[in-house]
Amino acid sequence: MPLISEPLQHRLVQLRRVLHEYPELSGQEQNTAAVISKFLEGLSIAHRNGLAGHGVLADIPGPSGVPCVVLRADIDALPIQEETGLEFASVHDGVMHACGHDGHTAMLLGAAALLSEDKDLPAPVRLIFQPAEEKGTGALAMVQAGVLDGAGMIFGGHLDRHYPPGTIVVSEGPVNASTDNFTIEIIGQGAHGARPHEGIDAVVVGSLMIMALQTIVSREVDPARPSVVSVGQFHAGTAPNVIGGQARLDGTVRAQDPAVRRQLLSSVRRIAESIAQLHGAKIEVTITEGTPPLVNSAEMADLARRAAIEVVGENNVVPLKTANMGGEDFSYYMEKIPGAYVRFGSQVPGKEGFPAHSSKFDFDEGALAVGAAFYRSIAKVAGRRLADHAIRS
Ligand code: NI
Repeated sequence: MPLISEPLQHRLVQLRRVLHEYPELSGQEQNTAAVISKFLEGLSIAHRNGLAGHGVLADIPGPSGVPCVVLRADIDALPIQEETGLEFASVHDGVMHACGHDGHTAMLLGAAALLSEDKDLPAPVRLIFQPAEEKGTGALAMVQAGVLDGAGMIFGGHLDRHYPPGTIVVSEGPVNASTDNFTIEIIGQGAHGARPHEGIDAVVVGSLMIMALQTIVSREVDPARPSVVSVGQFHAGTAPNVIGGQARLDGTVRAQDPAVRRQLLSSVRRIAESIAQLHGAKIEVTITEGTPPLVNSAEMADLARRAAIEVVGENNVVPLKTANMGGEDFSYYMEKIPGAYVRFGSQVPGKEGFPAHSSKFDFDEGALAVGAAFYRSIAKVAGRRLADHAIRS
């Protein structure tokens, strides 16, 4: 039996293609929100627009006195010039759905269609269509807009090219890493390139700092705990014969464990300060906190696994192969309420080499039906758990 009806499957593919053709950047998802709104209106589902920018919240009623199950899709695109050659490729220059959020949006709308027909929901279901995931700011803004008020659990997922279509990836433990950025301003003393002894060379200080920062992961952190410290930018100097008086390093720090996250950030600061002091330079370190690590608890992963098995069968529910050090702002919701984040296999043969955020990224549209059916399934599995608790308490 197909996972969802053929006409709905067809509509989801059409929806995904329309969203793909007209992608919008973080914070500018006006037309995307209009497409979502129109689809929900067609289903007579009550919803609100304009949350945290262009976010949309839809409520599907259930028994009173039971907290709702929240399902989330992200809806924004990336500043990338598309090179897929697809017939529905982006018509917006330099903007592309290169992370599959067009698919995430379509599958959650599919779930809306399935759930709106269900007269026997154990708990109310709330669908949230979140803007600005790529900037890492949308989820927190949605939380602040109150989308978790009255909510009991939350679930979400991402398309993943590492796994074949028809599979759902469910793991307990770390799913995504924290994403903090740092900036180190180095203030030395400019001088003539021929008389280095008269200055404090910020280029040399910066270079030593970059090399010393490599020892945090290799020498300080438990090797069994994945972590990353990368310097992505090094700006300094004005001319070949001038000792650079100032330099600036920008980097990112990733961890899957809150304690390791704190350790990495404090080590960056300590090493930067020590190297600066060693050479008589001054520095200013600025840490910009990003998303927290995303960690599925055993209990929530178990619920998600049961829902996934109902959809694709036990053999097609697989664990995460390797740790993912990318960030996902879904973690902000899970700081507030229990939940889990899964992945939907969507490998396209021959395109495995084009990861998310690549200009040639694409995914298997068969994953849309899997995602829609999974969201219906988890709404019921998690809803029953919430209803049981509501009766007992
Ligand atoms: Ni994404």
